[in-house]
Amino acid sequence: MSPIFVALDTPDLATATRLAGSLRGLVGGIKLGLEFFAANGPDGVMQLSVLGLPVFLDLKLHDIPNTVGKAVAALAPLTPAVLTVHAAGGHAMLAAAKAAAPAGTKIVAVTVLTSLDADDLLATGVGGAPAEQVERLARLARSAGLDGIVCSGAEVAAAHAAWPQGYLVVPGVRPEGGDIGDQKRVITPRAALDGGASMLVIGRPIAAAADPAEAARGIAATL
Ligand code: C5P
Repeated sequence: MSPIFVALDTPDLATATRLAGSLRGLVGGIKLGLEFFAANGPDGVMQLSVLGLPVFLDLKLHDIPNTVGKAVAALAPLTPAVLTVHAAGGHAMLAAAKAAAPAGTKIVAVTVLTSLDADDLLATGVGGAPAEQVERLARLARSAGLDGIVCSGAEVAAAHAAWPQGYLVVPGVRPEGGDIGDQKRVITPRAALDGGASMLVIGRPIAAAADPAEAARGIAATL
């Protein structure tokens, strides 16, 4: 099974359906985020699921334990392969999410958003380097029984060393020589896998390619 999940970053159901359909058998699954969910809801996820590709539902849930537990239970009929929550929600919230998830759904924690730097973190009351906070939240996620974390290519090797069984989701993946777009720290698919990544999240290099299927085949050939 391919570790590549293609980020379908669009609110448009027809576009997402067309893309997913053209990538069947070429990638391990698709990632649907808040943008898609806000526009199409659970029905939209269901319509894409019937294409047969595993779904990574990237909703980054963060609320009190009772609310998150009930939200995960409400999402359970969609049977996503992977669902995200914010590690900063705390131990009880993480445990509630895991307890409410179906057996086949991995609950993975977002640690520090890559859009935040040390100054942004300090403004929220968190001192020190972002990497320290990532490490702290990864330990919290593990202790609460989660399946893994989302981390950048820069952190994946350290995360894998600290948590060898952890399911590590790595975005910001770019094929050698590819256009990096707005991503700042990128890693090649091969290097991410060598570092211990379990899933490679790839968006524009496949989704925005003139021929997405050909782009997916090209990247798969480097793995
Ligand atoms: O197009 P691109 O490959 O940059 O898309 C990467 C996907 O991964 C997007 O859906 C983006 O929101 C998501 N993501 C990210 N960096 C993170 C977490 C998620 O780029 N730290």
